[in-house]
Amino acid sequence: MKKTFILAAAAFVLAACGSQPKFDGPAYLNPNAPVEERVEDALSRMTLEEKVGMTTAQSKFSSRGVPRLGIPEVWHTDGPHGIRPEVLWDEWDQAGWTNDSCTAFPALINLAATWDKELSLLYGNSIGEEARYRKKDILLGPGVNICRTPYNGRNFEYMGEDPFLAGKMVVPYVQGVQENGVAACVKHYAVNNQEFQRTQSNSVVDDRTLHEIYLPAFKAAVQEGNAWAIMGSYNLYNGQYNCHNKKLLLDILKGDWGFDGVVVSDWGGCRDSEEAILNGLDIEMGTWTNGLSGAASDGYANYHMARPYLEGIKSGKYGTKELDDKCRRILRTIFRTSMRPEPNYGRFVCPEHYQAARDISAAGVVLLKNENNTLPLNVAEGGKILLVGENAVKKMVVGGGSSNLKTAYEVNPLEGIQNAFAGKADVQWVRGYVGDTSTSYNAVSTGQDLTDNRTPEVLIAEAVEAAKDADYVIFVGGLNKSDHQDSEGADRLQLDLPYHQEDVIRALAPVAKNLVVVNISGSPVSMPWADVAGAIVQGWYGGTETGNALADVLTGKINPSGKMPFTVPYKYEDGPIKTERQYPGIKEDGDEYWQTHYDEGIYVGYRWYEAKQIPVQWAFGHGLSYTTFEYGQAKAAKSSMNANGTMTITVDVKNTGNREGAEVVQLYIADSEASIDRPVKELKGFEKITLKPGEKKTVSFTIDADDLSYYDVASQGWKAEKGEFVAHIGTSSADIKTTAAFELK
Ligand code: GLC
Repeated sequence: MKKTFILAAAAFVLAACGSQPKFDGPAYLNPNAPVEERVEDALSRMTLEEKVGMTTAQSKFSSRGVPRLGIPEVWHTDGPHGIRPEVLWDEWDQAGWTNDSCTAFPALINLAATWDKELSLLYGNSIGEEARYRKKDILLGPGVNICRTPYNGRNFEYMGEDPFLAGKMVVPYVQGVQENGVAACVKHYAVNNQEFQRTQSNSVVDDRTLHEIYLPAFKAAVQEGNAWAIMGSYNLYNGQYNCHNKKLLLDILKGDWGFDGVVVSDWGGCRDSEEAILNGLDIEMGTWTNGLSGAASDGYANYHMARPYLEGIKSGKYGTKELDDKCRRILRTIFRTSMRPEPNYGRFVCPEHYQAARDISAAGVVLLKNENNTLPLNVAEGGKILLVGENAVKKMVVGGGSSNLKTAYEVNPLEGIQNAFAGKADVQWVRGYVGDTSTSYNAVSTGQDLTDNRTPEVLIAEAVEAAKDADYVIFVGGLNKSDHQDSEGADRLQLDLPYHQEDVIRALAPVAKNLVVVNISGSPVSMPWADVAGAIVQGWYGGTETGNALADVLTGKINPSGKMPFTVPYKYEDGPIKTERQYPGIKEDGDEYWQTHYDEGIYVGYRWYEAKQIPVQWAFGHGLSYTTFEYGQAKAAKSSMNANGTMTITVDVKNTGNREGAEVVQLYIADSEASIDRPVKELKGFEKITLKPGEKKTVSFTIDADDLSYYDVASQGWKAEKGEFVAHIGTSSADIKTTAAFELK
């Protein structure tokens, strides 16, 4: 007994005095040293040239480390939906590796449509594992720019029209990525809401709109998500380029919000040495020089923060204070990623990632309309299902700009339905319409040949004929990733379906026993033909498993639970954009840039339509289920709350149908006695709950004064006015089931 006690005591003493072997190398190499200690030690060892070197790219997607000290270079990679294929040193086209076909996860608009924070964490963790495995340190995503206009080419890469939804959904994604020792680089900061003239347009936005609509998702990513990187956007705000915008980067991001990570320019977004040096840009990427030629010797030396910076310091034009701050942030990023303490290796294209892509995509599919229970598909043995439309077969992972991906496979909707009905029903397909026949982007190819020279008339006649003896006709259309569709670099030109799709739908309706329309898009599409379809589904660019995910919902294997992350108006003119100066902006004589005036202010999306009482086709937050839900009476825990207190609102929700389903319970807050103009109500809470048939759960929301506040320009701060507020709880912004009033003292 005595001996054991003595041994135990000895072990305790050893452990207490840190039994880890003493690290005898330099502090910056000590994985167990605090990050800030490593940063200071590394910085103290770096030469001026090494410090300046760190602030710019050395290749298309890497920026310098410190080779002499064994500090690795920083590898950046697109994109928000998957890990971009490897490129050569200074190329955009893929290099043709054979081991970099990734998992293509759903477009972020599809993730937003799930309204599921847990799935967002799963998404971030999965894509973070793939980035880690491919040895990338900074993932150039997620994007959280608000859907201000349905025409923005990159709405598919973002999280919809509401800052609260985008803010709540971006946080778990960032956390999931960074758990893998990979920095999420939240983009494009900020008020970057169109592709038209994206590098020459100045966003003119009032302070209240900036803080209430366009900054919250970035603020949440930084303050709640602890994002390690932010990407400056191409456009200007207040007349200054955003990659070196003093107000956005120094005053707000690094000042007010306390951001301690790195600001990376968008590729070619840095336009000026002095502003870049003094206004908070940390890493300059993609400046339009050809990195290996197009200059005397090394084009990268021409970067705004390369030779000009070094010479500026040596001439005394610049001090080294800003340089040390940039390097501290870059070193901090390196010690959080490639030189992090616990090495992990991630995973790549594993079954779990494919399953995650499929689950996330399915959970975001939105059932918009389902008359007479057209869906789920109910096909007798040996029945016939006809799919019509190019989007039933067109592979969408390729294209759309920098989020373009190379994958080992992509299941399209036709294959998804064929998989689901193999051996049970006859699944056929006809083209229906010809849209975009391109099948490659940045040297990545889908391997398809979509050539078809038949006329719309011939295609429609073929579809109508084939529809006559089908039990179900599923029209699969929408947009795609080509120019002026859902694509970077160009905005859309119409809200209706392109390529005569409406003609096809209207021709099919009279002959189809059951007509289901699946709209695959990443942004709002108007549906004047909605009355002729029994069921309408909003599908998304779901990634590698998109066809299986859609089939899971159409067959009823998965009960749809997606909710619209943006409003779909009956027509474009109903929206808040009324003038050229609002969109796409105007460029008057003498103007160096286009001026895009956000005259609609905070009235974006449902805020607009509700304020103007304009009916819409599909409301923000709308989405049906194959079961039904009943809401009880909302209850406020107290009749009033103090400015520094909280208020809890509860509501019972019951599944009154005959199958399990998930419901997104949404909380909107209305200020009954506002002294200034405020939206009718604003999203301030949502919970996705799963209920078995007959099951009831109590959903509880706790809000505080921030949730009641508006941004007061005079005091440059948030303000909640005393008086009555009303909590509106419902299944969509337009389908409020119950309310509860309370007082702010
Ligand atoms: C692109 C995009 C940005 C992307 C970067 C690198 O132009 O704007 O989202 O991450 O350049 O490809």
